[in-house]
Amino acid sequence: MKHLPLFFDLAGRLVVVVGEGTKAEGRAALARSAGAAVAQLAPSQMTIEDFRGAAAAFIATDDVEGDSRVQALAKAAGVPVNVADRPALCDFILPAIVDRDDVVVAISTGGASPTLATILRARIEAALPQQFGALAKLAAAFRSQVNTLIADPARRRTFFRRLIEGPAGRLALAGDQAGARRAVLTELDSARNGQTPQGIAHIVGAGPGDPDLLTLRAAQLLQEADAILHDDLVPPEVLARARRDAEFVSVGKRKGRPSWAQADIDAELVRRVRAGQTVVRLKAGDPFVFGRGGEEIDALQAAGLAYTVVPGITAALGCAASAGIPLTHRRIASAVTFVSGHSAQGNRRPDWASLATKGHTLAIYMGASEAASVRDLLLDAGTDPTTPVAIVENGSRPEERVSSGRLSDLARLAALHSQRSDAGPSLIIVGDVAAYAARKPEPNFEFAQVS
Ligand SMILES: C[S@@+](CC[C@H](N)C(=O)[O-])C[C@H]1O[C@@H](n2cnc3c(N)ncnc32)[C@H](O)[C@@H]1O
Repeated sequence: MKHLPLFFDLAGRLVVVVGEGTKAEGRAALARSAGAAVAQLAPSQMTIEDFRGAAAAFIATDDVEGDSRVQALAKAAGVPVNVADRPALCDFILPAIVDRDDVVVAISTGGASPTLATILRARIEAALPQQFGALAKLAAAFRSQVNTLIADPARRRTFFRRLIEGPAGRLALAGDQAGARRAVLTELDSARNGQTPQGIAHIVGAGPGDPDLLTLRAAQLLQEADAILHDDLVPPEVLARARRDAEFVSVGKRKGRPSWAQADIDAELVRRVRAGQTVVRLKAGDPFVFGRGGEEIDALQAAGLAYTVVPGITAALGCAASAGIPLTHRRIASAVTFVSGHSAQGNRRPDWASLATKGHTLAIYMGASEAASVRDLLLDAGTDPTTPVAIVENGSRPEERVSSGRLSDLARLAALHSQRSDAGPSLIIVGDVAAYAARKPEPNFEFAQVS
């Protein structure tokens, strides 16, 4: 180890920063964020007195002669000094920092490679949730209460581990500090009464299928789950990102197999969380876009259980990006609506007339098997039959297929996708922007031109 990492308490102490450029400004801001009283000075006419009583000095004059002269003054005043980009003049170096409030990670390569330190920092940034510092605050807030209640050090360690890794910690990471405190109080009650503490449900969006489109939080939760209740639409590549010894339960609807009713899924969630499990309810796309996530949180709320919701990239966004279709475009479309094709024949019909306007993009979910009915509704509502349409099947997955044409031909296009025995999920995009699909010809692209 070339340098010993030490964490300096600078609260209320004088830190002298010399220089005016971005490096000096950056160092001044860092020292201020640690509570230091910063004196930022220009190098000309400085004396040894300017450094008297300082805890540290940062020098960044962008000039060799200036740096050396001011460094000598700081040394003469007995103040530890850091000079930007001149390691030979430094008493201490400034590490790459990952800042999560009270939790701080410092990275040094001993000056060998700042690039390596930057890369490492990016990896640690990705692994540490933004609210990580909230965990330290939560543990600190309950420390004395827990120490009083749980005398046995091993049980105490288990309690704190669960506080950080269990429901309370997860609520804190999701930004719900009040919920986190309530969860700790419930756990303290359970510890007092010798009961099994409750678990937590995470209603998580898995995105459209490409595992790299999972959010960081979804990926973290997949590593923590005791059980994963997933839709059939979630592909194996996404499930492969989960903890290997988690219990996987497919609760989706698939042909030729008894499917789970929504009430049974709700009951299963409640049962497992009551038994103390960390359950990830993994849903295709986003849980709140045609995902019935609302019904699941109703059930969890009614049972008084803890839950978080993690958004996912919904099919409309994933498919549009993958097919190169901008859902809005300054000159072409200024509104976009996510609409269900199923409702074309159902009770809760959207107002197709209000949707069928020029400059309005429609992303139609579950519409491939209803394409003829969707087409007729749009034509009846006055949409131009030559309006471009695109169909994206298995968007963002290796088997993705895209076809495009005109609204009048939608049923024939949709049949290309829905009638195969191995058909995947398909999304229909209607509107002038759909013409962009034809600009991105790829091996999986089928263009149906209608004259
Ligand atoms: C029950 S909805 C679920 C929607 C999901 N919650 C979301 O936000 O994407 C199922 C429909 O989503 C669409 N879908 C989901 N994943 C898709 C994908 N990878 N490619 C194309 N369409 C997809 C299809 O229209 C499918 O019929």
